[in-house]
Parts: sequence; structure tokens; C-alpha cells
Amino acid sequence: MTATGARFITLEGVDGSGKSTQAQRMKEALEAEGRSVVLTREPGGSVGAEEIRRLVLEGDPERWSAETEILLFTAARRDHLERTIEPALAAGQIVICDRFVDSTRVYQGLTRGDLRGVIDDLHRMMIGREADLTLLFDMDPKLGLARAKARQTVEERFEDMGLEMQIRMRAGFLELAAQAPERFAVIDAGRAVEAVASDVLAAVKAAL
Ligand code: TYD
Repeated sequence: MTATGARFITLEGVDGSGKSTQAQRMKEALEAEGRSVVLTREPGGSVGAEEIRRLVLEGDPERWSAETEILLFTAARRDHLERTIEPALAAGQIVICDRFVDSTRVYQGLTRGDLRGVIDDLHRMMIGREADLTLLFDMDPKLGLARAKARQTVEERFEDMGLEMQIRMRAGFLELAAQAPERFAVIDAGRAVEAVASDVLAAVKAAL
């Protein structure tokens, strides 16, 4: 159930595209207008899903097949949906989610064969919700990867798959945006933080 005023906004893009910084700014801007906002992320956003996050983001790139990853990400998403997203939307809040199913469509759906159909079927069966608005942070993956690697965290399984993969994923995200223009806003994320933030806010205002 979605209450009046509730909106589900997702942020997508290749690694290092600056989503997390922009998500935080967006939250502050909306709160300054008196709106109630929940900022969350995937994989994670609930206790159980954060546990699954460690399994999928740490360790060897070959650790899981794409099929196993789809199941793990979907399991994490289901828990996140039940415990965090749905209750917030039912309470009329704005939910800003750093990554959602479009990441699965691209990261698991395109990188190791074409698994898009499986992901869409599973999503329909187990999740059944799409965002009201998806902001795609589009930028040169070479720049993104350099930024992402500079963070030096243990969560680098996908970054370790290399630049070729990031280039394919960027194209995949742009294709998704072209397939669902009513839901997507493509943001040029290769600019200064302020410029990106002002485009983000304009897109969000238009959707509220
Ligand atoms: P995250 O901390 O969100 O990285 P960033 O700040 O760069 O966005 O890391 C999430 C990683 O998990 C990222 O490499 C993308 C990947 N991922 C998937 O492969 N499938 C998914 O369904 C999700 C949600 C994330």
C-alpha cells in the first residue's frame, strides 16, 4: 500500500558515479521543505539484507555465479522491501533508495550472459514494485572506476571485474532508461557536485 505523499525514488549508475553523496543532499533538501524522508540502500537497508550484503560484495569476483547472485540480491531486496520500504511508503514517507532492481538488471543481467528475462520474472514474483522515479547517474566509467577504487574498501567484487565490464554496464543502464522514459531521469554525473545536485532536485520536484 502507498499512502498520499509517498514516493519511491531510486538512484542508479556505475560504480563511483557519486550517487551516495547526491542521495544525502537530496534527503537534506527535501527535509528542509518539511518532508519526511527515509534514505536507504541496496544491497542492505534492513538487518538481514545487510548480512547478505557482505556475502555478495566481499571476496573473489568468481565467488558466485550470476544466477546465485540474482537469488541473493532478490532475497536481500525482499527483506528490505518488507521491513523498510513498504512500511515507510505506507506511512506517507519519501523513500530514497541507493540502487534497486535496475542494478540487478544490469550487473547480473548483462555481465555474464543475458539473464534479463530471469530477473524480470523473479522480480514480478517476489518484489512486484518499481520506483516512481529513477535517477540514472551517467558518467564516463573510467572516471567512476578510478573514484570507486580510490575508496579502498573491501566491497570491491564488482569493481574488480574491470573497466570493460563497467563500459557494458553504462550502456545497459542507458538502454533501460530508454525503455522506460516515464520512470527515468538521466543525470550527467560527470560534473561538479553542485551542478549535479541542482539537476537532481529539478527532476525530483517535477516528480513530486
Ligand atoms: P555500493 O556500495 O552501492 O557501491 P556504489 O557506492 O559504487 O554504488 O555497492 C554495491 C555494489 O553491488 C555495486 O558494485 C553494484 C552491486 N550490485 C549488484 O551487482 N546487483 C544489485 O542488485 C545491487 C543492488 C548492487
